[in-house]
Amino acid sequence: MSERVSAIRGAALTFTGDPFLQDLADCMVHLPDALVVMRDGLITAFGPAEALLDQVPAGAAVTRYDDALILPGFIDAHVHYPQTPIIGAHGSQLIDWLDRYAFVAEQAFADVAHARRIARLFLREALRNGTTTSAVFCTVHPQSVDAFFEESAALGMRNIAGKVLMDRHAPEALRDTPQRGYDESKALIDRWHGHGRQLYAVTPRFAPSSSPEQMELAGALWHEHPGTYLQSHLSETVAEVAWAKELHPDRGDYLDVYAHHGQLGPRAIFGHGIHLGEDELGRLHETGTALAHCPTSNLFLGSGLFQLERARAAARPVRVGLATDIGAGTSFSLLQTLNEAYKVAQLGGFPLSAGQAFHLATRGTAEALYLEDRIGSLAAGMEADLVVLDLQATPLMRDRMAFCESLEERLFVLMTLGDDRAIRATWVNGVCLHDRDGGEPPLGRSPLGERT
Ligand code: GUN
Ligand code: ZN
Repeated sequence: MSERVSAIRGAALTFTGDPFLQDLADCMVHLPDALVVMRDGLITAFGPAEALLDQVPAGAAVTRYDDALILPGFIDAHVHYPQTPIIGAHGSQLIDWLDRYAFVAEQAFADVAHARRIARLFLREALRNGTTTSAVFCTVHPQSVDAFFEESAALGMRNIAGKVLMDRHAPEALRDTPQRGYDESKALIDRWHGHGRQLYAVTPRFAPSSSPEQMELAGALWHEHPGTYLQSHLSETVAEVAWAKELHPDRGDYLDVYAHHGQLGPRAIFGHGIHLGEDELGRLHETGTALAHCPTSNLFLGSGLFQLERARAAARPVRVGLATDIGAGTSFSLLQTLNEAYKVAQLGGFPLSAGQAFHLATRGTAEALYLEDRIGSLAAGMEADLVVLDLQATPLMRDRMAFCESLEERLFVLMTLGDDRAIRATWVNGVCLHDRDGGEPPLGRSPLGERT
């Protein structure tokens, strides 16, 4: 079988540790002229170009990126692909927004052709924004999961996804039952978990929309399939916290609803976690459960301000991933998501550093997902998912960069002014799937059909 070998050359940035827990200088690696050699979907060599050029086989293409920065592909820890058509729906906070917009949009996924179109649209946008892995909520319909994984697998992407479980407080058309939800999820696990790069997440939407019986079966299903994920929502708004307690009166606090049903531990990811007590943060840390920080969503819905510094405190660091939470989130760009994460942190008196921010978008989220041995870093043996950032993507960025005196300053400008225009290329599984300045993207310019 012929090998697929390619290489890219340019400045590169990656992390070997956690700048929340150690000095940035000890865990950030910046190479001004690096080579990344990729073979059959894996990085086989990463280091200074001069030292590695002779490892590139004769005839293999070396793509050179000037005025650019090569990073591991961005990772989105929490996102709803079926909500792509309702980004920017005006005028509601969480519970009302779910009723007025999300639950309406999700009903359309009974139609598998619609699911396929939106899955393609979603993945095209992810790639255009340098995101190579996401943890994705589908809808209650199993075909919404099949459609997503089929598109993801065809692109060779590593994605996590699951069928939403929801048996109450939702429109009839979006409700399953505890047993049906269990059976359908189990069949999807058998079909998709570990199929190529696809990973399954058992997905009880949140405590208010699942009965205790459904929560119990969801926890059991997760434990019956080691290596799968569990994703849900936690403490996003004050009203939701009160509702969750009212609906699960025997539980001590919101987190205890999930704990009681065996839903905490490695590979469990909870969106938001804004209104948590110290005790809850302690249990998240002890159990190795992750939170997904979704700043654009939290600002858009007026949900509250996530306390990143508090969550990551060295005394009991909670694993935290960065997330768009589309469609309550307002941007596919994890650069723009970092921009808002910085502002949210500032409102809590914590000036997130650029190093911490780029760690969060790459290796930090990989750690939250327990995938740091496969994605999130540039190193030999890692999967070849990369993003190439353009430091001069716009006239303003070019001129602003001229005033920067350090790497940290340049990174901070990238996350403040950068968006999809700053994504020069996105490589997945050793293949360039998005070339901003080049040919037709693999999913076409408009998966909805019309040419734009
Ligand atoms: N809580 C339960 N479902 C959702 C959802 O779809 N989006 C957000 N932001 N929060 C939720
Ligand atoms: Zn969400």
